[in-house]
Amino acid sequence: MNGVLQNKKILLAVTGSIAAYKSALLARMLQRHGAEVRIVMTPSAASFVTPLTFSTLTDHPVSVHMMEGDQWNNHVELGLWADLLLIAPLTANTMAKMASGLADNMVGAVYLSAKCPVFVAPAMDLDMWKHPATQRNLVQLQRDGVTYIPVEHGLLASGLSGDGRMAEPQHIVDFLIRHFSEEPALIGKKILLTAGPTKEPIDPVRFLSNHSTGTMGKALAHALLQKGAEVHLVLGPVCDRTAIAPQINTYPVSTAQEMFEQATFLFPSMDAAIMAAAVADYTPARYSDAKIKKAGDDLQLPLQRTKDIAAALGKAKKKGQYLVGFALETEEEEKNARTKLHKKNMDLIVLNSLREEGAGFGTSTNKVTLLYPDGTQKNIPLKSKREIAVDIVDALLALTDWGTAE
Ligand code: CTP
Repeated sequence: MNGVLQNKKILLAVTGSIAAYKSALLARMLQRHGAEVRIVMTPSAASFVTPLTFSTLTDHPVSVHMMEGDQWNNHVELGLWADLLLIAPLTANTMAKMASGLADNMVGAVYLSAKCPVFVAPAMDLDMWKHPATQRNLVQLQRDGVTYIPVEHGLLASGLSGDGRMAEPQHIVDFLIRHFSEEPALIGKKILLTAGPTKEPIDPVRFLSNHSTGTMGKALAHALLQKGAEVHLVLGPVCDRTAIAPQINTYPVSTAQEMFEQATFLFPSMDAAIMAAAVADYTPARYSDAKIKKAGDDLQLPLQRTKDIAAALGKAKKKGQYLVGFALETEEEEKNARTKLHKKNMDLIVLNSLREEGAGFGTSTNKVTLLYPDGTQKNIPLKSKREIAVDIVDALLALTDWGTAE
């Protein structure tokens, strides 16, 4: 296979997670793409997969210890040899060491010596992944210039299910290929993105909201960033505001009105806007300063319409600006989505169907249809939200004269 990984010198660092067994496959795949692969491992990784496996695969010795017999393993040389350092899997422990610059084993020493781009594919259990310390360390690594290959969702070694799985080897390879092959087509472009739910307060203890977790929006933010865009993310109150790359300008908002104000303020200086937020259509007509006490068998809660952000941007849109919206429908899906596309003066609408298995709120996958004002459409099969985000960004690019996608 020829391509961007051809003749690339890839130093694959393996740390002590059960996902280490996948690194053997990863090494093989990288070799099939023409890369020259060398391996370093932490001592605990060597308990999961033997260095012999990797030395056989790569036809080179594998460094595990800084000192072996009377030999000193030259981490500086290895760090300088590499065109790319890929740490996969990356455990919470090694991540913490990297974030604070510790070098008590080969992987840490190589990381500090490497002058090449560094990529990490974390792997850990759900709670370890979500821990604020881990998320803080991840942000620190990104600040230090490390590229994060997103974790995936699924069954974990502990038996729990959730985020924290190392990206599948094929996804890691795809990620690297995309990273190195792409002309960053969005360099110099400012993109506004709304994401997450909104929260409409009723009284000091209650609110109206919806099931949006902002997963699709965050995936879009990273896909835009990867293509070089300056991303402005207006983010509703999602539980998990972590794992958002520090390069993304994030504006936390809570209510539909706050989201409206922030988005309309930013839009005039933007090249495009993607409206992925699930904005409340109604908000309580009056906020009660005191907690509403129960009285009687039922309660009438008068609601009033919120402002439609997408419609406002569609109206304000100037030549050369693009607007992408989402539609979540349960019936007459296409017809309703097309109505929204025209009414809000959008250039593209992404139709989500709640009826599709594996699509919608809180899932890591999605199945969408892209609808265009000229009546055409493109069906995208069930994929991870991360992959769909890339497709949506490519579709936006294809609308513009900014550069070609792919
Ligand atoms: N949207 C918005 N501001 C609102 C409501 C919706 O910006 N107040 C945007 C959403 O982010 C999405 C698109 O408009 O990109 C369509 O949202 P959706 O909730 O599906 O449609 P609505 O226009 O609210 O229509 P309805 O709820 O009647 O289906």
